[in-house]
Amino acid sequence: MAPCSTVILGTGSYAPAGILSNDDLAKRMETSDEWIRTRTGIRERRIAAPGENVSDMGAKAAAAALADAGLKASDIDLLIVATITPDLPMPATACLIQNLLGVPTNAACFDLNAACSGFIYALDTACAMLSSGRYKKALVIGVEKLSSIIDWKDRTTCVLFGDGAGAAVVGLVPGSGRGLLGTRLGAYGDSAELLWIPAGGSRTPATPESILRGDHCIRMKGKEVFKLAVRAMDEAAREILEQHGLHSDQIACVIPHQANLRIIEAIAQYLELPIDRFFINVDRYGNTSAASIPLALDEARRSGRIKEGDITLLVAFGAGLTYGSALIRW
Ligand code: UT7
Repeated sequence: MAPCSTVILGTGSYAPAGILSNDDLAKRMETSDEWIRTRTGIRERRIAAPGENVSDMGAKAAAAALADAGLKASDIDLLIVATITPDLPMPATACLIQNLLGVPTNAACFDLNAACSGFIYALDTACAMLSSGRYKKALVIGVEKLSSIIDWKDRTTCVLFGDGAGAAVVGLVPGSGRGLLGTRLGAYGDSAELLWIPAGGSRTPATPESILRGDHCIRMKGKEVFKLAVRAMDEAAREILEQHGLHSDQIACVIPHQANLRIIEAIAQYLELPIDRFFINVDRYGNTSAASIPLALDEARRSGRIKEGDITLLVAFGAGLTYGSALIRW
């Protein structure tokens, strides 16, 4: 019998209704629509309503992905949530989403923290577990409520991020030639402190003083991260294409992590691809970390940007500093 492939059977996404525009931000702090647009390409971002949790957003994206796949929650036996903003330090948000959706109690459920590369890491993990033959159908969710860990007094970071969710249902399909062709994952742990949350973990538990300093919020050295992001995403894309004997021109659609339009433009230039080969929605959502790629992937599919037989390249970079790329044939 021909070997099985791990195939994305359905995708879904969810963006909270609340829109925060650049002009809204300019009313609160010293910034401008012009600065944010020209430096990042972002026009607006979504912000979760009070009481709207990461588990709620993740469950909505997952329900849409299940509907797209024509499957039920009871079909799922593996649930992985990529997030840096879990509802709670414990238990895993995957267990909360399991409960919201009615995924069976014999499903494996866990969270994965690879920041903005989280969805590609989770997809690779799910595909490896499915290929083991011990699991049949996986839900892979990338979801963030970054508005909860932003320092709204730090204009160098708060204008960049937003909230949202995306999900994919993955299953084994016999000998189709479709599905995940391969991944290339990695990390620069020596640069962890370029993009981090200094307090609130076990190394530095939150104190009233750390909270006053905003040490439980995202801190980033933007320029250094920018340079490393371009280098790592370019390498991750180039290496996976080489591994599979493909030229960038054979990629119908690139789904890059949506952090900054200038980063995406630089990668397009390095890969010698026209910018319209990239799916871009950073203008409407900002950087939603682990949600960024599945949200873009779902929008790309639903808008007809991905057709049967196409090869899509996913490529991401984030805190860790992690990076990853994946090739998918549809
Ligand atoms: O998810 C993965 C990881 N994250 C990223 O990929 C982010 C990577 N980094 C970036 O996208 C860019 O570095 C930023 C968008 C964060 C910043 O752009 P930049 O071109 O590197 O600007 P900069 O940090 O060098 O700042 C330029 C100027 C500074 O003023 P001076 O020192 O030149 O007078 C900043 O104080 O812009 C100022 N500035 C702002 N001005 C208006 C910084 N933030 C703002 C702001 N509004 N929001």
